Amino acid sequence: MGHLTPISKDDDARWMGAAISLSQRGRGRTAPNPCVGAMVVRDGSVIGRGWTRPHGRPHAEAVALEQAGDAARGATLYTSLEPCAHVSPRGPTCTASIIEAGIARVVIGLRDPDPRTDGQGIAMLEAAGIAVSTGIGANEARRAMQGFLSRQHLGRAHVTLKLATSLDGRIARSDGESRWITGEAARAHGHVERARHDAILVGRGTLDADTPRLNVRLQGFEDRAPMRLLLTRGTATAGWTAVASPEVAAAHPGVDHLMVEGGAGAASAFLNADLVDRLLLYRAPILIGEGRAALGDIGLASLADAHGRWRRVDTRMLGSDTLEVYERVRD
Ligand SMILES: NC(=O)c1ccc[n+]([C@@H]2O[C@H](COP(=O)([O-])OP(=O)(O)OC[C@H]3O[C@@H](n4cnc5c(N)ncnc54)[C@H](OP(=O)(O)O)[C@@H]3O)[C@@H](O)[C@H]2O)c1
Repeated sequence: MGHLTPISKDDDARWMGAAISLSQRGRGRTAPNPCVGAMVVRDGSVIGRGWTRPHGRPHAEAVALEQAGDAARGATLYTSLEPCAHVSPRGPTCTASIIEAGIARVVIGLRDPDPRTDGQGIAMLEAAGIAVSTGIGANEARRAMQGFLSRQHLGRAHVTLKLATSLDGRIARSDGESRWITGEAARAHGHVERARHDAILVGRGTLDADTPRLNVRLQGFEDRAPMRLLLTRGTATAGWTAVASPEVAAAHPGVDHLMVEGGAGAASAFLNADLVDRLLLYRAPILIGEGRAALGDIGLASLADAHGRWRRVDTRMLGSDTLEVYERVRD
């Protein structure tokens, strides 16, 4: 192979950003495995791209290496997570595949907290004479794999709460009418968010009031079918899995990313249990006046207790509606 152009730190950040973007194509479908993105780059050109496939296999690195073929020899592989080092009956380790492919350098976003890998992938690559850089784009990689990391560290899903409100914080009129508060663009965005979650949850009150379908109604996303969870102390309804508490919902097997779509009772129950990690607040430029509040009791001891809990990480216009995204501040 010919001369390889030296790679600068800026290039590393750029390629890693692209690998992290790719990783999001699998988000919501790779549990119990993380959604990883990988790129093989040679002489400034991308020769392989991969992201974790549904149910977690094949891994992103395996897909990218297969695409690159023989050209991978001497190239750089970017991956948002440390390549796996543990043998599985579902395929060879990515570490072994990378060594075999003759990759010269591996750039890693995050070290894998899974105890079966946790640094061993890096050690094996280095022992094989491969140059390894870690921590490139680590914050973005962390955000891209929130579900997997939450499962690893806290034993539960990463939980997003979606609220669609009027300017005066109502989620429905007092007779329960709530369709629609937000416009088409905001609702389409909500569908993209659904596609990025393994499961969607509503409370029994919302099921009775709205009979929501909770499917993904967007072109190109028709094959996405998040699991449907119903928060109720009662029994299940056909097509829904009943969960008796927010804790049970968040611990549900196969769910790394959970989206709570309301209503007020369900949203308050999750906030009361401090199980909301991310808040999607769609706000329409309308006033409803007398109507249903977005939230009931969320267990606040004082106003001081309410401050410092939420950090805004994004804000944008969707048609005439505003979307604000907040993350729970945790120590
Ligand atoms: N604008 C929006 O974003 C939006 C979104 C969704 C809904 N909505 C509106 O919100 C209204 C419904 O809200 P809602 O507050 O009446 O109902 P809800 O939150 O959908 O459901 C309340 C039910 O959830 C279950 N529940 C609540 N906390 C629980 C806990 N800790 N453990 C176990 N189960 C629990 C209970 O079911 P059981 O009684 O069966 O035990 C409770 O009756 C509707 O008008 C709907 O149109 C608006």
